[in-house]
Amino acid sequence: MNNNPIGVYDSGIGGLTVFSKLSELLPNENFIYFGDTANMPYGTKSKEDLLKITHKIMDFFAQKNVKAVVMACNTTSAVAYDCLKHDYNFIMYPLIQTVCKILANINANKIGVLSTEATANSHAYKMYLKKYNPNIDVIEHGCPGKWVECVESGSQSDLTNFEIIKNHLNILLNQNVQKIILGCTHYPYLKNILVNISKKDIFIDPSEYFAQYIANDLEQSGNKAEKQLFKPEFYVSSNPEQFFISSKIFYNINTVPTLAC
Ligand code: DGL
Repeated sequence: MNNNPIGVYDSGIGGLTVFSKLSELLPNENFIYFGDTANMPYGTKSKEDLLKITHKIMDFFAQKNVKAVVMACNTTSAVAYDCLKHDYNFIMYPLIQTVCKILANINANKIGVLSTEATANSHAYKMYLKKYNPNIDVIEHGCPGKWVECVESGSQSDLTNFEIIKNHLNILLNQNVQKIILGCTHYPYLKNILVNISKKDIFIDPSEYFAQYIANDLEQSGNKAEKQLFKPEFYVSSNPEQFFISSKIFYNINTVPTLAC
């Protein structure tokens, strides 16, 4: 079991922000990455659709005999995890539930969260941050699905509609938040736009905390691979060539991914 692969997924390339950190911290593990590009963006979908989508991905990983699945996706962690967490016999690491344990105790009384609309509407960040620190104030803000589509297509130039991004960010800044969680795994790509609007150290990329937690947990639970197995496989549900090109911004994959699901 320990030498079985670890599944990692997102709606597209965003989860590679988590995968790239996992690959540094767990250089022996074998990984299977799935980018659900046919269903991207997730953030504008209904709970019913997101549940169906997440079940299909978990079934895919079950067939691959994974020992664990990393939900490198805020939206399905927020909306689907609770409904399917008992349906599979591998370990599941949901992003929001995991990182809130750590982020609830960073040095800030008022935290903003920039996320997809579905994540913001679920109030998962508020619920879990407050669970671990009842005194914290949390302001959640949902952003357009178009942001994720632009990151996927590598067209940052379409995002240089600076005013739109600025207006969204200002909704949080005007409420005097001390930190802003980038609550969508695609958003670290926007950092070089965001830092022109606010100071760099206000932004938190949860993927670092998430990957570190998973590495520690595998170690402590005795579930780490016993030998060198690192040979990641990449799958997508549509448009493998586009994924291959866009993925470079987060992780340098060396073959065009396989079409699956
Ligand atoms: N990157 C995912 C997240 O963290 C999904 C974004 C989307 O497809 O809308 O929520």
